[in-house]
Formats: sequence, structure tokens, C-alpha cells
Amino acid sequence: MNDTKILKGNIIFTKNPKEFTVIKNGYVFIESGKVKKIDIKISQEYKDCTVIDYGNKLIIPGFVDLHFHAPQYANLGLGMDKQLLEWLEEYAFPEEAKFKDKEYATKIYKKVIKEIWRQGTTRIAVFGSIHKEATKILLDLFIKSGIGAFVGKVNMDRNSPDFLREESEQSIKDTEEIAAEYFNKSKLVKPIITPRFVPSCTSEVMKGIGDISRKYNIPVQSHLSENISEIEWVKELYPESLDYADVYNQFGLFGQQPTVMSHCIYSTDREMELMRTNGVIAVHCPNSNLNVATGIMPVRNFIEKGITVGLGSDISGGHKISIANVMNVSVQMSKVKWLQSNKKYTPLSTSEVFYMGTKGGGEFFGKVGSFEEGYEFDALIIDDSSLGEVNRDIEERLQRFIYIGDDRNIVARYVAGNKIDEPEL
Ligand code: GUN
Ligand code: FE
Repeated sequence: MNDTKILKGNIIFTKNPKEFTVIKNGYVFIESGKVKKIDIKISQEYKDCTVIDYGNKLIIPGFVDLHFHAPQYANLGLGMDKQLLEWLEEYAFPEEAKFKDKEYATKIYKKVIKEIWRQGTTRIAVFGSIHKEATKILLDLFIKSGIGAFVGKVNMDRNSPDFLREESEQSIKDTEEIAAEYFNKSKLVKPIITPRFVPSCTSEVMKGIGDISRKYNIPVQSHLSENISEIEWVKELYPESLDYADVYNQFGLFGQQPTVMSHCIYSTDREMELMRTNGVIAVHCPNSNLNVATGIMPVRNFIEKGITVGLGSDISGGHKISIANVMNVSVQMSKVKWLQSNKKYTPLSTSEVFYMGTKGGGEFFGKVGSFEEGYEFDALIIDDSSLGEVNRDIEERLQRFIYIGDDRNIVARYVAGNKIDEPEL
């Protein structure tokens, strides 16, 4: 009992997408980094425990970002008038090539992680670059930071510029070296298999990394059905395959281990059925979809089909690291989709997007993103007194923070029960 940590404040989270659970002036009891219970009083048995009193502030789950390209950070806000494939050639690839240089990688990755921390992201699935050494630097810096992360060395052995292309054998070898070195090194930070997308990987590499994923039980992340030209390209590369998802699936990269697939804007019914049966999580990245003009994901359709949906910033296709911002843009875009679809796809509610950015995406990390018993305690403490009247409904205060708040309102961050301060990297 004595090692139980107790936090007091206005607790708000989503057990399910339909509604918020609110405990005004409540206590959350944390044991061994996990939520034990929530109560409105402290019973006798806990009377000797330390209580951290956050007063009238909000206690919310930490944000989960399921899609982020760390080596694109220096490009934030650049090239936002381009379309996807053109933007990749002109902006993303040349910047990523710089991560051959370990000094440059160290400098940028330190900045990236501090900014992720600042914006309240407590768990993240992140792409590195093709470079083994830079990816190890990113893994080590995340371990130091206390943030939970899956970090992937990107595989690209074809259809990529000479300055950002690997030899197939080397690509597989480097992926395995990282897998072996890191799969058991840290509880919170782990490697993830990361084929960039189907066009950039040969069948040899896809097979090789599928085998590594199975051998070390390592999850998978990639892009899926983001843009019409990209989908046509995949069809040309694999004319025998049923669709885009089928290509990943035939190499054991589609739910054979936990898998996240970003965008899924043009997924067919068959692909969606495969996602559902294989437990693949779809990642909605609305800022990126707008910036590089890829389209609007029919998120409502995915939810109705029982597919888990998480949120992604997709830096730097997306320009905002804050998952609160991604939540509000998700609602806005769902309204455009609703109007465009003759009101077929009902707009998303605040509780639905909050769920996606916490418990929905959190599923990828285990029991993460909620304050139910047994969940790892990842939380943000929100001081919203600068945003308006605080003597009002807790759910409205959260809505207001999501729409008009920013990192200045986040006064503390917890991951797996530990308070994490600004990382000294
Ligand atoms: N498809 C392949 N690579 C990328 C990337 O870096 N960003 C986005 N948004 N889509 C991609
Ligand atoms: Fe991406």
C-alpha cells in the first residue's frame, strides 16, 4: 500500500469512443506504474500514501502518436503546396539522406524528442531513416527520454534516389542487427519493422524483414493506400496481388505481428475486412492528408466495420506534432467528409477523436491510453486557467483545451507511472 502513488484532480478519459468518463475532484491510485483504481475518497488503508494534489487541473491520458517521421523534422512547414510523390522527391528524401551523418542525426533527433515531450505525446510509433547508426541514435535517445516508442529503421531498396537507397542484402542485415540488439533492451522503447511503402521495397527485402518480424516478435508499421497514383504503382509492381494490403500480407507484414498502417484513404472492402480479421490498426493523419493533398479517410466506415483507428501527426507531411491538434482537425475533416458524402458518414465526436488519440492508438502498446484498472499510467496534467472560465463542465474544459490549448497548458507528463521532465539529452 505504501508504495501506492495517488494523484488528485479532475480526471477525464474515454473507456469507449461514445462518451467521456469524468471524476470531478477524484483520486487515481497508481501501483507499479499501473492504475489500481479511481475513487472520490482515500480509504483508511491508503492514508499513509503520498498524494500529489493537482487542485482544479485536468488529469487526462497521455497522447499516442502512431505515425511520425523523425528525420523529416527539419522540414516542418516546408513544401506544403506540393502533392505526395513530388513532395517525397523534393523534400522528404533529400532531408532524410542527411542522416547518414551521425552528428547531424544526433543534433536533430535531440530536438525532435524534446518537442514530442513538450507536446504531450507519451507513446509514439516513429520512422527513422534507412541509416542503421542514426536509427540506433534515435532508439538510445528515446530510451533516455522516458517516452514510450517503437522506432523503425526504414527499408528502401528500389524506386528511391541513389542517395537514399540500400542494397537488398544490407537492408535485411541492418534490420536484423537492430532487432537483435534492441528487442529486449528497454521496456518502453522497442524496434519496429518499417518497410517505407510497397513501391520502395523489393520482394527480397519484404520477405527478409517479414522473417525478422516473426523471429523476434517485432511489430510492423508502414503506409497503405494514401494516394491514387501510389495505388496504381503498387498494382503495376504486383499485378497478381488482390490489392495493396495483399502485398504486405503475403510477406507476413499485415497483422501476423501487431501492425499499424497509415492513411488507408482508398482501402477497399476486402482490404478492410483483412484489417479487421488480422487486427491491423488504421492510422488517421488528417493534417498530412490535407497538406500533401491525398484525400479524406472515411474514418466512420472503419469504425463501423470494427477496425481500430489511431491518430498520427505524420511529421512532416503533417505540420503539427500536437495530437490535440490532430484530434480537432479529425473532427473538422470528418465534417467535410459528411458534407461531401451526402451525409452518409456521420461526423466524428470529440469523445471519438479523443479515444483514437489515447486508448485506440494505445492498444498498439498494450494496456495504454485509459485510466481503467491495469492500464499503464500515462497522463498529462492540464492547467487550462489561461483558456477561459474554469468553473464549468469538465468535458467542455477538455474540448476547449483540444481546440485552443497548446503545450503551455501541459504542466506535467507521466509515462508508466513515472513523471518525466524535459529530457536532458
Ligand atoms: N509514403 C512513403 N513515404 C512517405 C512519407 O515519408 N510520408 C508520407 N506521408 N507518405 C509516404
Ligand atoms: Fe508517413
